[in-house]
Amino acid sequence: MKKSDPETVNDTIIISYLMINLLAGAETTAVPLRSVFYYILQQPAVWARLRQGLDTIVKDKIKPVTWRDARLSPYLEVVMREATRMLPGVAMNLERYVPEGGLVIPPVPTSGGNRNDAPAAVAENGMFFPAGTIVGINPYVMACNTSVYGADVDVFWPEHWQGVEEPEPPNERGGPAFGAGARVCIGKNLALLQAYEAVATLVVRYDIELAEPTSQWRITNSWFPRQEDGLDGRLNGRAGGH
Ligand code: HEM
Repeated sequence: MKKSDPETVNDTIIISYLMINLLAGAETTAVPLRSVFYYILQQPAVWARLRQGLDTIVKDKIKPVTWRDARLSPYLEVVMREATRMLPGVAMNLERYVPEGGLVIPPVPTSGGNRNDAPAAVAENGMFFPAGTIVGINPYVMACNTSVYGADVDVFWPEHWQGVEEPEPPNERGGPAFGAGARVCIGKNLALLQAYEAVATLVVRYDIELAEPTSQWRITNSWFPRQEDGLDGRLNGRAGGH
Protein backbone atom coordinates (compact mmCIF):
# COMPACT_ATOMS: atom_id res chain seq x y z
CA MET A 1 0.00 0.00 0.00
CA LYS A 2 2.87 2.34 0.75
CA LYS A 3 4.19 1.73 -2.77
CA SER A 4 0.87 2.02 -4.60
CA ASP A 5 -0.38 5.05 -2.65
CA PRO A 6 2.68 6.75 -1.09
CA GLU A 7 0.93 10.12 -0.72
CA THR A 8 -1.64 8.67 1.69
CA VAL A 9 -0.17 5.57 3.26
CA ASN A 10 2.75 5.65 5.67
CA ASP A 11 3.61 3.54 8.74
CA THR A 12 1.39 5.62 11.03
CA ILE A 13 -1.59 5.16 8.73
CA ILE A 14 -1.00 1.40 8.55
CA ILE A 15 -0.91 1.20 12.37
CA SER A 16 -4.15 3.17 12.44
CA TYR A 17 -5.80 0.75 9.94
CA LEU A 18 -4.80 -2.16 12.17
CA MET A 19 -5.94 -0.41 15.35
CA ILE A 20 -9.35 0.29 13.78
CA ASN A 21 -9.83 -3.41 13.15
CA LEU A 22 -8.82 -4.27 16.73
CA LEU A 23 -11.09 -1.64 18.25
CA ALA A 24 -13.99 -2.33 15.88
CA GLY A 25 -13.88 -6.06 16.52
CA ALA A 26 -13.45 -6.24 20.30
CA GLU A 27 -16.41 -4.80 22.21
CA THR A 28 -18.77 -5.37 19.28
CA THR A 29 -18.14 -9.12 19.50
CA ALA A 30 -18.08 -9.20 23.31
CA VAL A 31 -21.53 -7.57 23.59
CA PRO A 32 -23.47 -10.30 21.72
CA LEU A 33 -21.44 -13.04 23.42
CA ARG A 34 -22.42 -11.68 26.82
CA SER A 35 -26.01 -11.25 25.67
CA VAL A 36 -26.35 -14.83 24.46
CA PHE A 37 -25.29 -16.28 27.79
CA TYR A 38 -27.25 -13.75 29.85
CA TYR A 39 -30.44 -14.73 28.05
CA ILE A 40 -30.03 -18.45 27.52
CA LEU A 41 -28.94 -19.05 31.10
CA GLN A 42 -32.09 -17.33 32.31
CA GLN A 43 -34.21 -19.70 30.23
CA PRO A 44 -33.32 -23.36 30.93
CA ALA A 45 -35.65 -24.55 28.15
CA VAL A 46 -33.71 -22.51 25.58
CA TRP A 47 -30.39 -23.80 26.92
CA ALA A 48 -31.63 -27.41 26.81
CA ARG A 49 -32.97 -27.11 23.27
CA LEU A 50 -29.80 -25.47 22.05
CA ARG A 51 -27.58 -28.13 23.56
CA GLN A 52 -29.77 -30.97 22.35
CA GLY A 53 -29.62 -29.63 18.78
CA LEU A 54 -25.87 -29.12 18.88
CA ASP A 55 -25.33 -32.60 20.37
CA THR A 56 -26.83 -34.18 17.28
CA ILE A 57 -24.48 -32.21 15.01
CA VAL A 58 -21.19 -32.08 16.93
CA LYS A 59 -19.56 -35.50 16.98
CA ASP A 60 -16.21 -34.55 18.51
CA LYS A 61 -16.98 -32.83 21.80
CA ILE A 62 -13.33 -32.49 22.80
CA LYS A 63 -12.17 -30.10 20.10
CA PRO A 64 -13.65 -26.62 19.69
CA VAL A 65 -16.78 -26.71 17.54
CA THR A 66 -16.07 -25.65 13.97
CA TRP A 67 -18.00 -23.04 12.00
CA ARG A 68 -18.89 -25.83 9.58
CA ASP A 69 -20.79 -27.62 12.38
CA ALA A 70 -22.05 -24.58 14.28
CA ARG A 71 -23.80 -23.10 11.27
CA LEU A 72 -25.76 -26.32 10.79
CA SER A 73 -27.78 -25.70 13.94
CA PRO A 74 -30.96 -23.80 13.04
CA TYR A 75 -31.67 -23.17 16.70
CA LEU A 76 -28.23 -21.65 17.32
CA GLU A 77 -28.94 -19.40 14.34
CA VAL A 78 -32.16 -18.04 15.83
CA VAL A 79 -30.65 -17.78 19.32
CA MET A 80 -27.78 -15.67 17.94
CA ARG A 81 -30.14 -13.51 15.92
CA GLU A 82 -32.37 -12.95 18.91
CA ALA A 83 -29.49 -12.08 21.26
CA THR A 84 -28.20 -9.60 18.67
CA ARG A 85 -31.68 -8.18 18.22
CA MET A 86 -32.15 -7.69 21.96
CA LEU A 87 -28.81 -5.91 22.24
CA PRO A 88 -26.83 -5.18 19.06
CA GLY A 89 -23.08 -4.67 19.41
CA VAL A 90 -23.53 -1.09 18.19
CA ALA A 91 -26.58 0.76 19.50
CA MET A 92 -26.44 4.24 18.04
CA ASN A 93 -27.32 5.71 14.67
CA LEU A 94 -25.45 4.30 11.69
CA GLU A 95 -25.24 7.51 9.74
CA ARG A 96 -25.28 8.20 6.01
CA TYR A 97 -25.35 11.35 3.87
CA VAL A 98 -28.33 11.65 1.55
CA PRO A 99 -26.91 11.63 -2.02
CA GLU A 100 -27.50 14.10 -4.86
CA GLY A 101 -31.16 14.30 -5.77
CA GLY A 102 -32.38 13.75 -2.23
CA LEU A 103 -34.18 10.80 -0.80
CA VAL A 104 -37.71 9.86 0.14
CA ILE A 105 -37.75 7.66 3.22
CA PRO A 106 -40.96 5.71 3.67
CA PRO A 107 -42.50 5.73 7.12
CA VAL A 108 -42.06 2.63 9.22
CA PRO A 109 -45.43 1.21 10.22
CA THR A 110 -45.85 1.52 13.94
CA SER A 111 -48.70 -0.92 14.18
CA GLY A 112 -50.77 -3.15 12.04
CA GLY A 113 -48.01 -4.01 9.56
CA ASN A 114 -45.87 -7.06 9.43
CA ARG A 115 -42.71 -8.23 7.77
CA ASN A 116 -44.61 -9.60 4.79
CA ASP A 117 -46.20 -6.27 3.83
CA ALA A 118 -45.44 -5.18 0.28
CA PRO A 119 -43.03 -2.19 0.20
CA ALA A 120 -45.73 -0.15 -1.56
CA ALA A 121 -47.94 -0.51 1.47
CA VAL A 122 -45.44 1.36 3.64
CA ALA A 123 -44.09 3.80 1.01
CA GLU A 124 -47.03 6.17 1.11
CA ASN A 125 -46.54 9.53 2.81
CA GLY A 126 -42.75 9.19 2.86
CA MET A 127 -40.69 12.18 3.95
CA PHE A 128 -38.25 13.96 1.57
CA PHE A 129 -34.69 14.69 2.73
CA PRO A 130 -32.44 16.96 0.60
CA ALA A 131 -28.92 15.99 -0.48
CA GLY A 132 -26.36 16.25 2.30
CA THR A 133 -28.77 15.55 5.15
CA ILE A 134 -27.41 13.06 7.65
CA VAL A 135 -29.86 10.23 8.21
CA GLY A 136 -29.34 7.09 10.22
CA ILE A 137 -30.85 4.07 11.84
CA ASN A 138 -30.04 2.74 15.27
CA PRO A 139 -30.07 -1.10 15.10
CA TYR A 140 -31.37 -1.23 18.67
CA VAL A 141 -34.35 0.98 17.88
CA MET A 142 -35.00 -0.92 14.67
CA ALA A 143 -35.12 -4.17 16.62
CA CYS A 144 -37.81 -2.77 18.93
CA ASN A 145 -40.30 -2.32 16.08
CA THR A 146 -43.47 -4.02 17.23
CA SER A 147 -44.87 -4.12 13.70
CA VAL A 148 -42.02 -6.45 12.75
CA TYR A 149 -41.40 -8.46 15.92
CA GLY A 150 -44.77 -8.31 17.63
CA ALA A 151 -45.80 -6.72 20.91
CA ASP A 152 -43.31 -8.75 22.94
CA VAL A 153 -40.16 -7.07 21.60
CA ASP A 154 -38.69 -6.84 25.10
CA VAL A 155 -38.77 -10.60 25.56
CA PHE A 156 -35.85 -12.82 24.52
CA TRP A 157 -37.66 -15.37 22.43
CA PRO A 158 -35.64 -17.06 19.65
CA GLU A 159 -38.88 -18.13 18.01
CA HIS A 160 -39.31 -14.48 16.93
CA TRP A 161 -37.14 -15.58 14.03
CA GLN A 162 -38.63 -18.88 13.12
CA GLY A 163 -40.26 -19.06 9.76
CA VAL A 164 -38.02 -16.27 8.46
CA GLU A 165 -36.30 -17.54 5.35
CA GLU A 166 -32.51 -17.28 5.49
CA PRO A 167 -31.96 -14.47 2.98
CA GLU A 168 -29.57 -14.94 0.08
CA PRO A 169 -26.64 -14.53 -0.02
CA PRO A 170 -25.78 -16.24 3.29
CA ASN A 171 -23.76 -13.26 4.49
CA GLU A 172 -27.09 -11.52 5.14
CA ARG A 173 -26.84 -13.33 8.48
CA GLY A 174 -26.56 -11.07 11.46
CA GLY A 175 -29.33 -8.64 10.60
CA PRO A 176 -29.09 -4.88 11.08
CA ALA A 177 -26.52 -5.18 13.88
CA PHE A 178 -23.76 -5.07 11.27
CA GLY A 179 -25.13 -2.18 9.24
CA ALA A 180 -25.76 -2.51 5.54
CA GLY A 181 -24.76 -1.36 2.09
CA ALA A 182 -21.37 -0.03 1.04
CA ARG A 183 -20.21 0.60 4.62
CA VAL A 184 -21.43 -2.67 6.09
CA CYS A 185 -19.11 -4.05 8.79
CA ILE A 186 -16.10 -5.55 7.04
CA GLY A 187 -15.50 -7.87 9.99
CA LYS A 188 -18.99 -9.33 9.87
CA ASN A 189 -18.19 -12.80 8.59
CA LEU A 190 -15.20 -13.12 10.91
CA ALA A 191 -17.28 -11.97 13.88
CA LEU A 192 -20.11 -14.39 13.13
CA LEU A 193 -17.68 -17.27 12.75
CA GLN A 194 -16.01 -16.45 16.07
CA ALA A 195 -19.30 -15.99 17.93
CA TYR A 196 -21.02 -19.10 16.60
CA GLU A 197 -17.95 -21.24 17.31
CA ALA A 198 -17.50 -19.83 20.81
CA VAL A 199 -21.14 -20.22 21.85
CA ALA A 200 -21.45 -23.73 20.38
CA THR A 201 -18.22 -24.87 22.05
CA LEU A 202 -19.17 -23.55 25.48
CA VAL A 203 -22.69 -24.99 25.32
CA VAL A 204 -21.48 -28.42 24.21
CA ARG A 205 -18.56 -28.72 26.62
CA TYR A 206 -19.64 -27.06 29.84
CA ASP A 207 -22.44 -26.88 32.33
CA ILE A 208 -22.92 -23.20 33.03
CA GLU A 209 -25.23 -21.48 35.47
CA LEU A 210 -25.74 -17.91 36.59
CA ALA A 211 -24.44 -17.24 40.11
CA GLU A 212 -27.44 -14.99 40.78
CA PRO A 213 -30.19 -15.89 38.30
CA THR A 214 -32.41 -12.96 39.22
CA SER A 215 -29.66 -10.36 39.02
CA GLN A 216 -30.23 -7.88 36.17
CA TRP A 217 -27.47 -6.31 34.15
CA ARG A 218 -26.89 -2.58 33.78
CA ILE A 219 -26.24 -1.22 30.32
CA THR A 220 -24.30 1.93 29.54
CA ASN A 221 -24.62 2.88 25.91
CA SER A 222 -21.80 4.87 24.36
CA TRP A 223 -21.86 3.48 20.78
CA PHE A 224 -21.17 0.05 22.30
CA PRO A 225 -23.89 -0.90 24.81
CA ARG A 226 -21.63 -2.22 27.57
CA GLN A 227 -23.19 -4.62 30.03
CA GLU A 228 -22.27 -4.75 33.72
CA ASP A 229 -23.47 -7.04 36.51
CA GLY A 230 -25.93 -9.89 36.14
CA LEU A 231 -23.47 -12.08 34.32
CA ASP A 232 -21.43 -13.79 37.02
CA GLY A 233 -21.64 -17.53 36.48
CA ARG A 234 -20.30 -20.96 37.40
CA LEU A 235 -18.73 -23.09 34.72
CA ASN A 236 -18.01 -26.81 35.15
CA GLY A 237 -16.98 -29.57 32.81
CA ARG A 238 -20.12 -31.18 31.45
CA ALA A 239 -21.75 -33.77 33.66
CA GLY A 240 -21.81 -37.20 32.08
CA GLY A 241 -18.23 -37.17 30.81
CA HIS A 242 -18.60 -35.45 27.41
C1 HEM B 1 -20.38 -8.97 16.45
C2 HEM B 1 -19.36 -8.20 16.09
C3 HEM B 1 -19.46 -6.92 15.29
C4 HEM B 1 -20.51 -6.04 15.18
C5 HEM B 1 -21.89 -6.12 15.83
C6 HEM B 1 -20.06 -4.97 14.30
C7 HEM B 1 -20.84 -3.89 13.92
C8 HEM B 1 -20.44 -2.91 13.02
C9 HEM B 1 -21.28 -1.84 12.56
C10 HEM B 1 -22.73 -1.59 13.00
C11 HEM B 1 -20.57 -1.09 11.69
C12 HEM B 1 -21.07 0.13 10.92
C13 HEM B 1 -21.80 -0.38 9.67
C14 HEM B 1 -22.62 0.65 8.94
O1 HEM B 1 -22.48 1.85 9.16
O2 HEM B 1 -23.45 0.22 8.10
C15 HEM B 1 -19.26 -1.69 11.59
C16 HEM B 1 -18.24 -1.22 10.81
C17 HEM B 1 -16.96 -1.74 10.81
N1 HEM B 1 -16.54 -2.89 11.43
FE1 HEM B 1 -17.69 -4.10 12.59
N2 HEM B 1 -18.77 -5.22 13.93
C18 HEM B 1 -18.36 -6.40 14.50
C19 HEM B 1 -17.13 -7.00 14.38
C20 HEM B 1 -16.07 -6.50 13.65
C21 HEM B 1 -14.78 -7.13 13.51
C22 HEM B 1 -14.40 -8.49 14.14
C23 HEM B 1 -14.01 -6.27 12.76
C24 HEM B 1 -12.58 -6.41 12.30
C25 HEM B 1 -11.83 -7.47 12.38
C26 HEM B 1 -14.82 -5.14 12.41
C27 HEM B 1 -14.40 -4.07 11.64
C28 HEM B 1 -15.21 -3.04 11.20
C29 HEM B 1 -14.73 -1.94 10.37
C30 HEM B 1 -13.30 -1.71 9.89
C31 HEM B 1 -15.84 -1.13 10.11
C32 HEM B 1 -15.88 0.16 9.27
C33 HEM B 1 -16.31 -0.25 7.85
C34 HEM B 1 -16.46 0.97 6.91
O3 HEM B 1 -16.78 2.05 7.37
O4 HEM B 1 -16.28 0.78 5.70
N3 HEM B 1 -16.06 -5.32 12.96
N4 HEM B 1 -19.20 -2.81 12.41
